[in-house]
Amino acid sequence: MPLYAYLTFPARTITCQSHDTNQNPHLERYGCYVTGITNETTQHTLATSRLTTRSPTHPGPRPRLLLGDASNLASTPNLLPPASPLFDAILSIDSAYHYNTRWSFLASALPILRPSGSVALADVALHPVAVPTTPWRRWALRAVCAMGRIPFENMVTRAEYEARMRTIGFVDVKFEVVPPEKVFGGLAEFIKRQRQKCEEVGVRTAPVTSVGLAVVEWMCGWFRGGEVCEFVIVSGRKADK
Ligand SMILES: C[S@@+](CC[C@H](N)C(=O)[O-])C[C@H]1O[C@@H](n2cnc3c(N)ncnc32)[C@H](O)[C@@H]1O
Repeated sequence: MPLYAYLTFPARTITCQSHDTNQNPHLERYGCYVTGITNETTQHTLATSRLTTRSPTHPGPRPRLLLGDASNLASTPNLLPPASPLFDAILSIDSAYHYNTRWSFLASALPILRPSGSVALADVALHPVAVPTTPWRRWALRAVCAMGRIPFENMVTRAEYEARMRTIGFVDVKFEVVPPEKVFGGLAEFIKRQRQKCEEVGVRTAPVTSVGLAVVEWMCGWFRGGEVCEFVIVSGRKADK
């Protein structure tokens, strides 16, 4: 089960991809100070209970888990630990496309990063070919985004993404594209297997959940062929001065 630490803020160096923060080896290895944020109360409660019950004798610094809105970091109570008022790195894993908006998240991240500190996101961008040539796809994508609670303002190509990051104030912006088959194909297969398992053991999900899963499975099947969306690893840096 994942622990939802969507943003991690190690106070010295390495960031960690944190599904299960209390067991993440990076934390112990590098002695990072991590602050995780989610906007979902249930995730926050579960993650906090795991930290306190499953690793009460954790040797390294304990992650701080906060309930907050990543699209307005300044609104999160106690975000800045008194001992280190600026963060070395800000990491958003597979969630920034949901923020309302990604751009306000990035703008609110900049002032709390130290000079030359970095931001990195595992995120989704619009495939460059999908935009001008196929208007019906754009319409279908709008519908999918609305259902998936993804503000359409977040759906931009890599070129526009980079331009907006630079306008906000980030430098050295870089992108790495993850092959669509790996991300969307994997997720489609995963959802299909879960649905089959539910049927085998006679577990019924609420109609709204069943429809939601079917839509996501269909969407991932659509995306896995490429030329709709790209899953990207994005990084940038705050300028030195
Ligand atoms: C697609 S899920 C990511 C799942 C994750 N990769 C995993 O495997 O556990 C997106 C998550 O982003 C988080 N999220 C969405 N909007 C947010 C916001 N404004 N602030 C903080 N977290 C947010 C939600 O908690 C949601 O569960």
